[in-house]
Amino acid sequence: QRSHLAPTPPMGYMTWNFYADHITEQDVKSIADAMVTNGLVRLGYDYIFIDDGWQGGRDNRNNIIPDPIKFPSGIKALADYVHSKGIKLGIYSDAAPLTCAGYTASLHFEQQDAKTFASWGIDYLKYDYCGAPSDKETAMKRYKTMADALSNSGRDIVFGICEWGGRQPWTWGSEVGGNLWRIDGDIRDKWSASFDAPGTPTGGIGILDAVNRNADLVAYAKPGAWNDPDMLVVGLYGKKGPSGDLGGIGCNDIEYQSQMSLWCLQAAPLMITCDVANMNAATKRILTNKEILAIDQDPLGKQAERKINDNNWQVYLKTLSDGSYAIGILNTDSTARKYNLALSQIGLSGKYTTLNVWTGEQKKNQSKLMYEVKAHETIVLKLKQ
Ligand code: GLA
Repeated sequence: QRSHLAPTPPMGYMTWNFYADHITEQDVKSIADAMVTNGLVRLGYDYIFIDDGWQGGRDNRNNIIPDPIKFPSGIKALADYVHSKGIKLGIYSDAAPLTCAGYTASLHFEQQDAKTFASWGIDYLKYDYCGAPSDKETAMKRYKTMADALSNSGRDIVFGICEWGGRQPWTWGSEVGGNLWRIDGDIRDKWSASFDAPGTPTGGIGILDAVNRNADLVAYAKPGAWNDPDMLVVGLYGKKGPSGDLGGIGCNDIEYQSQMSLWCLQAAPLMITCDVANMNAATKRILTNKEILAIDQDPLGKQAERKINDNNWQVYLKTLSDGSYAIGILNTDSTARKYNLALSQIGLSGKYTTLNVWTGEQKKNQSKLMYEVKAHETIVLKLKQ
């Protein structure tokens, strides 16, 4: 009933990792303006998603209302503004009395809140699960109540389930009406949580942690139902937003490009979180590469299979709708190394023309690949016969 929504993984901007709950109406407008000016909207990044912290309680009819200081013009006016720029608006709530950051949430007000969101022109709801009972049955019930409320709201609203992995939402997320579900804890601006040094800000997971989790969940992704390894940290560089430090130490550009590569191979939602008005050239290059975006948005909706996971090498294979393939070769080691791959090792026979999506280099008649791959780099090739 809801699977016609999000036929390809949603793309856009999510406010949490940079703004946390300090997000305001003016910030959302500036993000929208920047995303139009720097071409992100034209490339398909067409959601802006207001995460936790927008709420101002309920009025005397129990209607949920925005914080009047952060959102003085109200959410409807803001939705009109972003819609006029060709952008859809997302918002956040939680299946308990209060959200993760302690704001008013939707338990027992699901119908009313869904109607309110629809009347404001909301296009996407991220629904969190802080402060709710931990068993899977209750979680499924509470998500379904909200999904049904959205279905009855009179507006198409994408439903994003915010889990952290423990209840295995990939096995039931679609059944309860989710269009995507988080598969693990909150992502932070770091390569891997296993690099958290004593005394540095910890918490959350890194790029590689999310990729490893997602690699086992290939069977669950399809159009309208996506595994969500959380936001793109590309371009954050350990910078602290108005919220202070959420626990990321920053990555280098090779690692950011790797995140983009792996998220696209794994058909993940692409939610930018960096300061889009002030992106440097590297960040812009990574986020706007049309070849890699086409791999993510391929209409077949197949997540790449991990064909090799051995000796700090990972090789991914994604089947595309036109019968061609995308391959990713990830070096998880901390030094550059050479890799030889016979395409027959991953089940491909014959010779292919390869296009390196990040360098533009084309090679004809390839059946054996040989690449030098930098530390934490992912080389992505499009293969055509
Ligand atoms: C949880 C979610 C985050 C964010 C915060 C908001 O931690 O996993 O993505 O939405 O709540 O409080």
